Amino acid sequence: MPRYGASLRQSCPRSGREQGQDGTAGAPGLLWMGLVLALALALALALSDSRVLWAPAEAHPLSPQGHPARLHRIVPRLRDVFGWGNLTCPICKGLFTAINLGLKKEPNVARVGSVAIKLCNLLKIAPPAVCQSIVHLFEDDMVEVWRRSVLSPSEACGLLLGSTCGHWDIFSSWNISLPTVPKPPPKPPSPPAPGAPVSRILFLTDLHWDHDYLEGTDPDCADPLCCRRGSGLPPASRPGAGYWGEYSKCDLPLRTLESLLSGLGPAGPFDMVYWTGDIPAHDVWHQTRQDQLRALTTVTALVRKFLGPVPVYPAVGNHESTPVNSFPPPFIEGNHSSRWLYEAMAKAWEPWLPAEALRTLRIGGFYALSPYPGLRLISLNMNFCSRENFWLLINSTDPAGQLQWLVGELQAAEDRGDKVHIIGHIPPGHCLKSWSWNYYRIVARYENTLAAQFFGHTHVDEFEVFYDEETLSRPLAVAFLAPSATTYIGLNPGYRVYQIDGNYSRSSHVVLDHETYILNLTQANIPGAIPHWQLLYRARETYGLPNTLPTAWHNLVYRMRGDMQLFQTFWFLYHKGHPPSEPCGTPCRLATLCAQLSARADSPALCRHLMPDGSLPEAQSLWPRPLFC
Ligand SMILES: *[C@@H]1O[C@H](CO)[C@@H](O)[C@H](O)[C@H]1NC(C)=O
Ligand SMILES: *[C@@H]1O[C@H](CO)[C@@H](O)[C@H](O)[C@H]1NC(C)=O
Ligand SMILES: *[C@@H]1O[C@H](CO)[C@@H](O)[C@H](O)[C@H]1NC(C)=O
Ligand SMILES: *[C@@H]1O[C@H](CO)[C@@H](O)[C@H](O)[C@H]1NC(C)=O
Ligand SMILES: *[C@@H]1O[C@H](CO)[C@@H](O)[C@H](O)[C@H]1NC(C)=O
Ligand SMILES: *[C@@H]1O[C@H](CO)[C@@H](O)[C@H](O)[C@H]1NC(C)=O
Ligand SMILES: [Zn+2]
Ligand SMILES: [Zn+2]
Repeated sequence: MPRYGASLRQSCPRSGREQGQDGTAGAPGLLWMGLVLALALALALALSDSRVLWAPAEAHPLSPQGHPARLHRIVPRLRDVFGWGNLTCPICKGLFTAINLGLKKEPNVARVGSVAIKLCNLLKIAPPAVCQSIVHLFEDDMVEVWRRSVLSPSEACGLLLGSTCGHWDIFSSWNISLPTVPKPPPKPPSPPAPGAPVSRILFLTDLHWDHDYLEGTDPDCADPLCCRRGSGLPPASRPGAGYWGEYSKCDLPLRTLESLLSGLGPAGPFDMVYWTGDIPAHDVWHQTRQDQLRALTTVTALVRKFLGPVPVYPAVGNHESTPVNSFPPPFIEGNHSSRWLYEAMAKAWEPWLPAEALRTLRIGGFYALSPYPGLRLISLNMNFCSRENFWLLINSTDPAGQLQWLVGELQAAEDRGDKVHIIGHIPPGHCLKSWSWNYYRIVARYENTLAAQFFGHTHVDEFEVFYDEETLSRPLAVAFLAPSATTYIGLNPGYRVYQIDGNYSRSSHVVLDHETYILNLTQANIPGAIPHWQLLYRARETYGLPNTLPTAWHNLVYRMRGDMQLFQTFWFLYHKGHPPSEPCGTPCRLATLCAQLSARADSPALCRHLMPDGSLPEAQSLWPRPLFC
């Protein structure tokens, strides 16, 4: 059986630190790059002889070379190589206008697609059937986006011929405006009085239900997702997919989610539920809008059935849409827009959300509400920060005005003396640079008001510490990244419970501790066994933390730098009790610890104390972090 160089795990974030320092992507990014490259080449071949079109491939955010500086070095070289140094501005604009018009025509899009499929096969990026499906799924939106961004006459000619001819502003940086109200002096929360009420919040993330999961099928098939109808049977020497799930590139059958929800008893009761998205499976090469909506409604109904009257507050994940990661900001209207998805979400989640929250959910997939007096919950649509959301090529400046809206909410909360929780799917350290830096600034400005932040998406159990912007030394916030419900890839199924300073007047609403529960798949899949969801660990007890405030997590990272045993514990829990067989050596350990300090993308300074001799970049290039999401 042929082996394919990459899986379709392109839905993962690829921030700078996760790539080799030389900018080469790891295997998971290969498919994306291949697809982009394929489309670029296809455009070039199908539409004109202008190899100009290679340049946009370099500029694509999904390719690791998407740094403007690098781009500006490449362009003049291309100009010499291809001999279009004498291209004039009017000719350039005329050329791109023609390309743009050409791409409006259906047959040209199809031609682009067919070349992309050929390349996908040639480069063995995925099995032929997967290549075919995924190109068909992406080509329309991708070509539309390219037409409106990198291939628009102004952008393209601005890039090629300089600012006299156009304006290249793909992923240009931008700044949010903060209110002129001076920042109050930092005031860390004081511990709650003994006996003060404590809330328990159930935290579900990355359920990834696979409708086609099938026990006994091949867990190690050629496709990007296995253990399912179409995966084929394993050779006689290897066992097939387990009944409850599998330690492989597989998602979960509905019965495992049902078992999770029905087995919550010992972990409860819960005061509320935060649920941060990624409902459908990773079969991203052939998902239809119907498939995604079926996942949304089926799993929402299941959650309601088992949690009954407990309020559930969801956030939108990157897998909710199809094509995966495709979240056009509100300026895209009509059939390309996310309307089909947000409308269905508003309908499915209506019992849990007030009218004002449903209104903003319909527009941009984000909302705010007050679960308790004195607490504001903000659910962000982190797809607007995503490096993988190709719609942001058109305009990545504060998509949907979400961050400016967040500032408004935080200022209003500060004025009222309320506390705020933020939930979202993609963690801030994995975002596009400008978004991430702006978010970091907002967190620092509202450190007294922002009591907690909760994310998912990486599928592993980790956190991100925020520091003051001036010195990058004083920890002032921490975002918790909870592990996934799904096994993808090679993990135990699991969920998280947060204990929060409870619902009483002047509560700090900060996290007091957290617990992680898993299903031990090895035990559950033994024939005749009854699935048993067990407590894996409690954070404070396991790590010996005095509390779960930002400084405690900062200290934990530096303790783990020197204490191998402690790091091994973290590494085991990071994978929900099922770590990979290869041990985590020094580069792996440093890259993992650096990630816990990097709540802001592209900020190597945040890890400067991990390796005082400056060898961290080297460690990171030796160990590009594997991605699970
Ligand atoms: C560009 O123009 C110059 C002079 O006008 C000419 O000598 C040169 O050959 C041209 N280069 C190309 C690549 O056409
Ligand atoms: C954003 O703010 C930074 C720091 O204040 C500044 O250096 C940068 O030029 C600003 N960028 C834009 C696009 O205004
Ligand atoms: C809208 O787009 C979807 C997905 O691309 C397609 O299946 C559907 O037919 C389109 N509907 C209309 C009315 O064009
Ligand atoms: C991009 O969006 C921002 C914010 O909505 C807007 O101010 C800006 O004008 C847009 N840029 C372009 C080139 O359309
Ligand atoms: C929170 O406490 C207030 C005041 O005691 C009470 O009215 C309210 O119902 C409580 N809210 C929840 C969700 O428990
Ligand atoms: C899961 O069960 C297997 C078999 O009983 C055991 O070896 C393993 O340590 C268990 N894993 C965890 C995380 O408890
Ligand atoms: Zn996920
Ligand atoms: Zn995700």
